[in-house]
Amino acid sequence: MTVKKSLVLVLTLVVVLTLAACGGNKNGNNASSNESPAASADNGAAEATGKLADIKKAGKIVLGTSAEYAPYEFHKNIDGKDTIVGFDIEIAKEIAKDLGVDLEIKDMDFGNLLAELKLGKIDFVIAGMTPDAERAKAVDFSKIYYEAKQGVLVRAEDNAKFNTMADLEGKAIGVQMGSTQEKIAQGIKGAKLKSLGKTTDLVLELKSKKVDALIAELPVAQGYANTNSDLALTAISPEYENSGSAVAVNKGEAGLLAEIQKTLDHLIADKKIDQWVSEMTAVSEQ
Ligand code: ARG
Repeated sequence: MTVKKSLVLVLTLVVVLTLAACGGNKNGNNASSNESPAASADNGAAEATGKLADIKKAGKIVLGTSAEYAPYEFHKNIDGKDTIVGFDIEIAKEIAKDLGVDLEIKDMDFGNLLAELKLGKIDFVIAGMTPDAERAKAVDFSKIYYEAKQGVLVRAEDNAKFNTMADLEGKAIGVQMGSTQEKIAQGIKGAKLKSLGKTTDLVLELKSKKVDALIAELPVAQGYANTNSDLALTAISPEYENSGSAVAVNKGEAGLLAEIQKTLDHLIADKKIDQWVSEMTAVSEQ
């Protein structure tokens, strides 16, 4: 089981790295054609039209997400039907609407999203994904559409013991596989990391004392603390290069990214995202 998991992880990494290398080459070509501005403009336009045309021709855009991260995206039983909801999903719906196409959602482990994007199985990723420097080598990001801090969740009875980052040293810490929180935890002295595919499973590990703490984006950690009396949010706020979320598309999809950015811009200007964050927080805590 563990061997199989690590094999999948290694293979995923190989795919991502190989494709990242290809993306790099493509950029190199674009850079060399920059000497002739007309040629490079043509180049960008042709690529953008291709991907946008595919989406429009298919009449649908395929979203990749990891729906276990309320209020970003999560499963909710609505009128007896299991439904994926969240403020990221509202954003994705708006993007599809603005493009005049249907939205199809593919739900998967967070750690698989970028590999699936590279393979063309999904057209874009919205999953509370933080645009860090390493990921930006492999995919292109929109501007940050939502800022959040990090939060540390512990069992309620242990809350008084966790006040600063130093209190996490040597502790068993649960993080989502492939997340920025995993990188944060790797930097904590003596920490024993438990990386799992799903945040929901990490919460169970915390409750059953298999880990001492769990790191997630603050709204997510806060949500679990609000809905589970045996869990509590600590005063600790781990730092990372940033904790914002952005939309990811494949490298070179300038046209698609520009359309997505247009939607994000009007949603931000209309304060829609903040409104959805509160609405979806309420839905997740119902
Ligand atoms: N912001 C963190 C990252 O980019 C965690 C996001 C987790 N998202 C999710 N849908 N589970 O790695």
